Amino acid sequence: MKIGLYDSGIGGLSVLQEAYHLLPDEEYIFYADTDHVPYGLKTSEEILQYAGESVGFLIEKGVDAVVIACNTATSVAVKPLRERFELPIISMEPAVKPAVEYLDAASEESEDKRVLVIATPVTLREEKLRRLIERVDVRHRVDLLPMPRLVEFAEKEQFGSEETKAYLKERFAGLNTEKYGALVLGCTHFNYFKDMYKSFFPENTRIFDGNEGTIRQLARRLSLSPVNNDGDMMEHIEADDIVKRTEYYTSGRRVDNPEVLEHFRRLHVRLEDMRCLR
Ligand code: DGL
Repeated sequence: MKIGLYDSGIGGLSVLQEAYHLLPDEEYIFYADTDHVPYGLKTSEEILQYAGESVGFLIEKGVDAVVIACNTATSVAVKPLRERFELPIISMEPAVKPAVEYLDAASEESEDKRVLVIATPVTLREEKLRRLIERVDVRHRVDLLPMPRLVEFAEKEQFGSEETKAYLKERFAGLNTEKYGALVLGCTHFNYFKDMYKSFFPENTRIFDGNEGTIRQLARRLSLSPVNNDGDMMEHIEADDIVKRTEYYTSGRRVDNPEVLEHFRRLHVRLEDMRCLR
């Protein structure tokens, strides 16, 4: 099947990467709305318009389903998009439920630990996340922290830079990070920094992203069987293969410039390294 994935920028490549792991036989088109990234600081009206244009573009390319590989666009636009378009539209959900369940199921000590959700300001202010937390956070253990600039650092490929480190330090400074047993990445761009979060939290703080859940949901909707049912994190995928097999677009323009493709290849290498970090 032909599947379109869409994000404001490079964050959605982490969802594409997961798709190649779990559903390697499908055909993928990736759309990054780079003319408008970051979404996280835009108005809901703007995001709704960009999301409509991007998803509409993918549908014209003949995809069988669209994955909105962006938490911010999901928060604002998934409902109107599903009303407007008939094909399956799969979206992101911050992994708050698995994180809470993880704390419940882990040791007695971790039962008292908390969950920290980091995301863009738009995702944190939207109703969708509020409702999810109301539903699953029965013991009021979930805290929220906006990271308005992290998308920008990801787009600039500043994964381990001093500036990024200083930014994370400043954002986490007001928190007692010792009390967190789970960190939820509520933005697909945040997957690039998994190794950096590790230095701010206790060793056994578990990191959750929503990528696997999203691709499994895609598989269910399209009646496809994920190849990697046991979630074996060690399996490796070559970035070169992903780049060769994917049709990439940036805001409606086909990417065929070797420098941009090389950029995407580097990002896939980075994401493959980050994927196993939990
Ligand atoms: N990858 C998007 C997300 O998951 C980033 C949004 C942005 O462009 O600010 O929220």
